[in-house]
Amino acid sequence: MAIHVDASGLFHLQTAGSSYAFKLVHGYPAHLYWGPRLRHTSGLGDLLQLKDRPSFSPNPLPGNHRFSLDTLPQEYPQYGTSDFRQPAFQVEWPDGTRIAEFKYAGHRVEPGKPKLAGLPAVYAEPGDGAETLVLELTDESGLRVELLYTVFPNTDAVMRSARLVNGTSLPVRLLRVMSASVDFHDDGFEWFCLEGAWGRERHLSRRPLGPGGTRIESRRGASGHQLNPFAALLRPGADEDKGDVYGFSLVYSGNFLIEAEVDQFRTARVTAGINPFEFRWLLEPGESFQTPEAVMVYSGEGLGGLSRTYHRLYRTRLVRGKYRDLERPVLVNNWEATYFNFNADKLEAIAKAGADLGIELFVLDDGWFGRRDTDNCSLGDWKVDLRKLPGGLADLADRVNRLGMKFGLWVEPEMVSPDSELYRAHPDWCLHVPGRRRTEGRNQLVLDMSRQDVRDYLFKVLSDVFSSAPVTYVKWDMNRHMTEVASAKLPPERQGETAHRYMLGLYELLERLVTAFPDILFECCSGGGGRFDPGMLYYMPQTWTSDDTDAVERLKIQYGTSIVYPASAMGAHVSAVPNHQVGRITSLEMRGLVAMGGNFGYELDLTKFTEEERAEVRRQVALYKDMRGLVQQGDMYRLKSPFEGNETAWMFVSPDRREATVFHFRVLGVPNEPLSRLALRGLDPERDYRVVRVTTAKGAADGETGDFEFSGESGDDRPAVKPVGVYAGDLLMRAGLPADGFRGDFSGVLYRLRAAE
Ligand code: DGJ
Repeated sequence: MAIHVDASGLFHLQTAGSSYAFKLVHGYPAHLYWGPRLRHTSGLGDLLQLKDRPSFSPNPLPGNHRFSLDTLPQEYPQYGTSDFRQPAFQVEWPDGTRIAEFKYAGHRVEPGKPKLAGLPAVYAEPGDGAETLVLELTDESGLRVELLYTVFPNTDAVMRSARLVNGTSLPVRLLRVMSASVDFHDDGFEWFCLEGAWGRERHLSRRPLGPGGTRIESRRGASGHQLNPFAALLRPGADEDKGDVYGFSLVYSGNFLIEAEVDQFRTARVTAGINPFEFRWLLEPGESFQTPEAVMVYSGEGLGGLSRTYHRLYRTRLVRGKYRDLERPVLVNNWEATYFNFNADKLEAIAKAGADLGIELFVLDDGWFGRRDTDNCSLGDWKVDLRKLPGGLADLADRVNRLGMKFGLWVEPEMVSPDSELYRAHPDWCLHVPGRRRTEGRNQLVLDMSRQDVRDYLFKVLSDVFSSAPVTYVKWDMNRHMTEVASAKLPPERQGETAHRYMLGLYELLERLVTAFPDILFECCSGGGGRFDPGMLYYMPQTWTSDDTDAVERLKIQYGTSIVYPASAMGAHVSAVPNHQVGRITSLEMRGLVAMGGNFGYELDLTKFTEEERAEVRRQVALYKDMRGLVQQGDMYRLKSPFEGNETAWMFVSPDRREATVFHFRVLGVPNEPLSRLALRGLDPERDYRVVRVTTAKGAADGETGDFEFSGESGDDRPAVKPVGVYAGDLLMRAGLPADGFRGDFSGVLYRLRAAE
C-alpha cells in the first residue's frame, strides 16, 4: 500500500524511495514532510512547529495565538484570511469580493489513477500498483476543491492536480487555480530551471533562492523556448550524482507559472500551474474546472537521479500509443536540404540516397501545399501544390515506399496565413480583437483553437491529407506565439478564458487525430523546441529538439533537455556544414555521434555527399540501428557537462545493466594535453565488462568486429570496433576509462560495453 491515512488525519504517501506527508490542523491540510522515504508514520505529526508570532500574522482561531495561516505550511493555501504568501487559488464572487477558505470535508483512496478531463496526464496501467488520494475541501459557500495525489510504488514522484467544483448557486470567477503548492519548512535551497531562446533551448540555470519570489513563467500562449515548464529546488552541494533535489514539471503546453517564495520565517513555498496572468474562468453553478497535472519528483541522487525518474515515467506512462515501445525510425528530412525549393524528382533523389544508406523514413517538410514558395502564404490551405508534386502526395509516397522507405509529412495546423483561401473565407477564425491590428509573426496569424468549428475543419482537412497517402509520421509545427488573445466565439465575460480554451481545444484535436491515426508517429515541433513539454509528449512521442543543428550547440541543448526528457523524446539530426544556424564546420563524425544521443536522422541533401562521406553515413546508420534500443529505452547518465568545460559525456545503460554505450565529446583540440579519465556510472559493480571503442570515421573499416555484430553488409559498411579491454564495473565507475582518442577540434569517441560472461 502506498497511501496511508491514520485516524488522526495524517496522510503519508510512500514510494520506494520517498515519503510525502501532511496532516489536518483545524481542518486545514498542513504540509509535514517531503523527502527520503520514512519507514512509518509515527512521529511525523510532530514535525509541525506552531509558534506565537507578532500580530502581523493574524490568528483565525480566537484565543489561539500560535495558529496563523501565515505561518502554517499548507497544501492548498488561500489568500485573504491571514496568509499573505502566494495562494494556490483565488476566486471572485458576483459582488466583487474574493474570500474563500477551503477546509477538510472528506477523502478517499482509489486504486489506479483517474484521467484528467480534457488534459494530458501521466496514466497508470493495471498492475502498476498506483493509488490516488482524493482530498475534498469545501468553503462555507459550497465551493469545493478536490486535490488529487497519485503515487506509483516504484517511482519517487507525486502527481498532483486540483479540481474546483462550483457547488453554490452563484457564478464564481476563478482568478487563479494552481495545480500544486508545497510549503518547504526552510529555504536552504538553490533554484534550478531550463532557460533559453529559439536556437538555444533549455540551457541550465542555477541560482540561490532569496527572500521574496523567484519565478519562471510563460505569457506566450505556449510553453516556449524561453523557459521550460520545469523547475527544481536543490540543496546546496547537490550535483549530478548526489544531494536532495525536488522537481516540479507541469504537464501543460500553454501559459504557466512556477514560483518559489521565501517568506519572513525563511520557509519556501513552491506553486505550479496555469499562469494566473491574463487568466480568468467563469464557473457556473454545477460546473467544475480541472487543473493540469504537476509531476513532483524527489531524488536523493542529485539531478541524475531526478532525470532518470522523469525519463522512466514520461517514457512509459506519459507517452502513449504503439510507438511508445517501438524503436524509432532513422529519418531524412528535406528542410535544410531544399527549404521551399523542391519538386518530386528532387525529393525522390534525396530519398533514394537515403535508402541506399539504410535510412528508413523520408520526411517531406514545409512547402508542399497551397502556393507556398516562401513563408508568406498558404498556411491553412492543406491541399497539395501540384506544380511541385504533379502526382500528389500519393505519388511521392509511392516513389518513397518503392525505395523501401516510409513516408512522413510536415504540417502547421494551428496557423493561418493572411494570404490564404482559408483566411479569405474565415477572417474571424484567428485570435484577434475586433478593430485592432492583427500582429503577424513569420507572416502568419494563430487560428482560434478554442472554436469547435475551427477544430472540426482541421480534423477533416488533416484526416483527408493523412489518408491521401501512406503517411506513417507527421511533424506538427507551430511557429509563432499568441498576440491579441481573444475569441470571436466567446462572450465578453469569458474572453479571459481564451488562452486556456485554446490549449484544451488543441488537446482535443490531437486526441481525435491520434485516435483516428494510431499508426502515425507524431513529432511535435515549434520552431524546434518551443513546445518541448510533457503536455505535448502525451500526444506526440517525440519532439524536434531545436532548429539549431550545430553539433557543438546541440551538446548544451540535448544535455539541458535531458534534465527532464528522455532521449526517446528528442529528435536529433545530422545537418550540413557550414551549419545553417551558426556557420560552424564540425566533423561528420561528431555530428553523427551527437545526433545519436536522441532519435537519429539527417537534415541535409544526401545527394551532395562524396563517396567517402556516403560510406561514413552508412556506418553511422548501421551503428545507430544497432544500439538505438539502448539509447531510446535505456537509463541515461550524464558524465560531463558542456556548461562546465571543453568536454561533454553521457552514457546509456540497459535496464539489466549488461550493456552500455558511452559518448564522449571534446569541442576544441588541446595541445600536449594532461592525462585524464572518464568515470562511468550506472554499471553493475559486480560484473566485468568487455569495452570496445567504435568508430564510423574514414579509414575505420579495418577494425575487428568481435562480439559486436553490425547490420552493414560488407566490411566497409561496418563501424570499426577496437578492443579496449575487459574491466570490472566498479573499476570503470571509480577509476574510469582513459579520456583519449580525440582527433583535432570537434571530436567524439564512442565506447560500447557488454557484460563479459
Ligand atoms: C520550423 C521547424 O522547426 C523547422 O524544422 C521547419 O519545419 C520549418 N519550421 C518549416 O517552416
